[in-house]
Amino acid sequence: MDRLLLLILAQLLTTGACDKNPDPEHKEKHKGDMLDHWTYKDQNWNESYVLCDKNSQSPINIDTGKTIFNKNLPPITLEGYNLPETEQLALSNNGHTVVLSLPDSMTISHGFTQKYLASQLHFHWGSETTPGSEHQVDDIQYAAEMHIVHFAAKYGSLNDAAQKTDGLAVLGVLFQVGEENKHYDHIFDKLEDIAEKDAAVQIPGFDINTLLPRQLYRFFRYNGSLTTPPCFQTVTWTVFNETVRISQAQLKKLEVSLKTGHGTLDSNFRHIQPLKKRTVFASFSSLTSSRRIIPKEDSGESSELNKSVDGDNFTLGDTMALIFGVLFGCTALAFVIYVIKQRKRQRSSTERGQKVIYKPAATMEA
Ligand SMILES: *[C@@H]1O[C@H](CO)[C@@H](O)[C@H](O)[C@H]1NC(C)=O
Ligand SMILES: *[C@@H]1O[C@H](CO)[C@@H](O)[C@H](O)[C@H]1NC(C)=O
Ligand SMILES: [Zn+2]
Repeated sequence: MDRLLLLILAQLLTTGACDKNPDPEHKEKHKGDMLDHWTYKDQNWNESYVLCDKNSQSPINIDTGKTIFNKNLPPITLEGYNLPETEQLALSNNGHTVVLSLPDSMTISHGFTQKYLASQLHFHWGSETTPGSEHQVDDIQYAAEMHIVHFAAKYGSLNDAAQKTDGLAVLGVLFQVGEENKHYDHIFDKLEDIAEKDAAVQIPGFDINTLLPRQLYRFFRYNGSLTTPPCFQTVTWTVFNETVRISQAQLKKLEVSLKTGHGTLDSNFRHIQPLKKRTVFASFSSLTSSRRIIPKEDSGESSELNKSVDGDNFTLGDTMALIFGVLFGCTALAFVIYVIKQRKRQRSSTERGQKVIYKPAATMEA
């Protein structure tokens, strides 16, 4: 997932000089040396990294019909995300993605039972002809995806947290093509300067909040893994439901600007992994999901949301229809009773010999 992590691990696991011989025989003999030699073209990573075919891998397809609404998932609250221009950030091409290093003064202060500190953010994308998000929602692959990697504060460093079950928290943001998003130019405008693998530049700090969707309280949550070797199953994933828009031209910059050691760095997304026995939770109820009844700005939607509606097949439309149906039925019944009473009164006051014919159709004229 990130260069930093891989570098640290490589240092831990290798003892001698780094032999970068891609000869398969060396692969077996020097597994530690091979940490950076995996590719997206051949994703049989488990041959060298045994964790990569275990049962809690990422990314996954999020089937919204099967997510469980969990009203106890608090909104994500971020602190220190507004970085001053004086804070220089390293932006680098590690051969797998573009990585923006982040200071650990940036934190997820609320949203989990413990505090997480930021380490870096990076992207996954497709090519000019194919989308490239890692997570999918209802079998839709989005244009691209950003990951903001955090580690549990109690472990002190990304390296120490990476192999602990509750060690990492990654925020996932899905991209759609739309209007231009100037905030991303802080990063995208610098891509041509880091075209070569291992190139890096420094960029001035900016408000990282501006890269995120507005509705940080609508997300999917599940237990998963790094989406790159060594595939540690230590990531608590938060995938936001609101997408972020960037323009076609901006997306193209991601898709064509960078190089690996061999060619264009594109289609750097891992294939979907089986969900197995895991549950994906949603912080929001499907009642308010697809139809925008509640205005975007209104984050105080809790009272309505907290009615845990069981089952996702009961839409807002169905509920409204039911309410109006019942209201109409009551009104109609009241009117019928009223008409009958009126007729009775009339009948008793007029002559008994006259036949008053009651017309049920009268209610329809109300
Ligand atoms: C993740 O795993 C932990 C430990 O098994 C569990 O307590 C927690 O509920 C799981 N979270 C999700 C989102 O499934
Ligand atoms: C957001 O949630 C709604 C309702 O579950 C779903 O229809 C939609 O596909 C989701 N979009 C994303 C990007 O998660
Ligand atoms: Zn990633």
